[in-house]
Amino acid sequence: MESKNKTIRNVSWIVFNYLRISRDKYYHIIMDEERTGKLREIKDEIVNLKDSPLYEERVRDRVFPVIGEGNHDAKIMFVGEAPGKNEAETGRPFCGAAGRVLDELLAHINLPRKEVYVTNIVKDRPPENRDPLPEEILIYGPFLDRQVSIIQPKVIATLGRFSMKYIMERYGLGLAVQSISKIHGHKFETEVSYGKLVIVPLYHPATALYTPSIKEELKRDFEVLGKLVREK
Ligand code: URA
Repeated sequence: MESKNKTIRNVSWIVFNYLRISRDKYYHIIMDEERTGKLREIKDEIVNLKDSPLYEERVRDRVFPVIGEGNHDAKIMFVGEAPGKNEAETGRPFCGAAGRVLDELLAHINLPRKEVYVTNIVKDRPPENRDPLPEEILIYGPFLDRQVSIIQPKVIATLGRFSMKYIMERYGLGLAVQSISKIHGHKFETEVSYGKLVIVPLYHPATALYTPSIKEELKRDFEVLGKLVREK
């Protein structure tokens, strides 16, 4: 009798867990579809963003806006500045020389690029790769905010000083902003609408192309990042 009861308890436990896992998987699929739908809406709005000072140039040059790419359920999001030539020609973020440095840094910490989400503040290419202008950050920034609230990353790694300033100010860390040479690789914790968020400012990968010593600093900062993502 006792062994029969034990078998019933074991079978019930297996069935209960099977149903729980199936339910979680089902919710996950629904959530993924919802996220993808909302991200697609952002894409459509940016494609038709005629108010952007960069819109006409994009249409004239027959290039693409660069919305973002990667895991819609990523724990970590990388935010660069604006697309360069290769990115505008393909519509993919960080696919040129700076992207190769980013790939190398991700490989250094065994973090597959398909697990992270990569985007920029400004979604269209500024002419001649100049720095983004305040009015460009103003018009594209709200799209980045929406991407963050859809993906809900636990960590945002900013690439370069423009995204460092934008993201830190946007998420209540404006007073902690300093020169990137002082705060790169530091972890800044903040509270956002969906929970805790850690922001880690990093040098822009392109700087490693001109200053090799920066590559070593970036590698050390990525090690911090790798540890953080594995804890989350
Ligand atoms: N630099 C950036 O900031 N973003 C890109 O996508 C490529 C280069």
